Amino acid sequence: MKPLNRVIFNKETNINPIWIMRQAGRYLPEFREIRKENPDFIKLCLNDNLSTQITLQPLKRFDLDAAIIFSDILMLPYGLGQKIKFEKNFGPKLGELKLDKIIRSQEIDFIEKLQSVYNIVKKVSSDPILKNKNTIGFVGAPWTLLVYMINQQSPKIKLKENFFEDEILIDKLLLIIVKFLKIHIKSQIDNGANVIQVFDSWAGLLDEKYLSRYIYTPTLDLVNYVKSLGVPVICFPREIKNYKEFCEVVNPDVISIDYNQDPREIAKTIKIPVQGGLDPKILLSDISTLKKEASKYLNIFKDHPYIFNLGHGVLPETNPNMFDYLVKTVKNY
Ligand code: CP3
Repeated sequence: MKPLNRVIFNKETNINPIWIMRQAGRYLPEFREIRKENPDFIKLCLNDNLSTQITLQPLKRFDLDAAIIFSDILMLPYGLGQKIKFEKNFGPKLGELKLDKIIRSQEIDFIEKLQSVYNIVKKVSSDPILKNKNTIGFVGAPWTLLVYMINQQSPKIKLKENFFEDEILIDKLLLIIVKFLKIHIKSQIDNGANVIQVFDSWAGLLDEKYLSRYIYTPTLDLVNYVKSLGVPVICFPREIKNYKEFCEVVNPDVISIDYNQDPREIAKTIKIPVQGGLDPKILLSDISTLKKEASKYLNIFKDHPYIFNLGHGVLPETNPNMFDYLVKTVKNY
């Protein structure tokens, strides 16, 4: 049985599998080298050979238990025909949202546009290095994708003042997003993904009164869909106000927590397997602080099914030696 499945299905607590969000990325010099030659990020995500190579880079260096496909949550709007580019020091910039065009999107066109992503999943999952490890496919959560598609840029920079005004647009778009997310999930699973993570990076942005409508209902729909395909699903509703309530309503196989959560409170109140939590900034400190902080999480979750990870993606300025030290600390615990 693969390491994550042992925690998720067997509820084993004596193993500590580890993978790290953004484990393939800018903190690795071998990634930066490829990136330098490939300034168009979307094109890079659609390059089978390079993206497969990038996905495997961290597994060649570190004793990780899973690969996460090198891709992006914004490949979904790309597949629906919304223009998208990534600008240095700004992040993603999306083109105008043309709902009438998006409504007419066909499944076969979508799959054709994203076929390379599925080829990458196939290549990665069949690589010998993944024999006893998990291959993690992923999607953005409906709410977070809605935010990027309507706002056309990160809400960290600015959220449109009239964002919530056009409820008809939001409701229609949500339905389309969920429909194509299911296609995107199924295609990754059919090509070898054996865990799915749902990234809801902007869950913390939403007012209580909209939680059910924009997060609980569409995410529950997706979670039930992934479960129906026999694959476990991890949810990461970053900075959502009430993790316990989220788990009770949506009931994913694993809940991934952000670094602002009190891990003791989570261990006490949440019954399902937990993932992550450690602040990525700890990797910028020194080895004794890193050891102390990583051990804190391992101790708190020692009797709880737990997958080691950070509370958000690894930072680009992280020293790979610190990353290595973290993996060894967890493995030797
Ligand atoms: O985790 C992994 O190693 C797998 C690959 C992965 C990427 N993006 C590659 C990437 C995953 C799982 C994502 C998810 C993603 N993408 C999220 C959810 C997680 C989160 O960070 O909250 C979001 C919100 C996005 C959208 C996105 N993609 C943004 C906002 C940015 C720019 C910010 C940044 O970090 O530069 C990206 C670009 C991106 N996606 C990079 C990588 C490695 C950096 C590209 C580069 O400039 O080299």
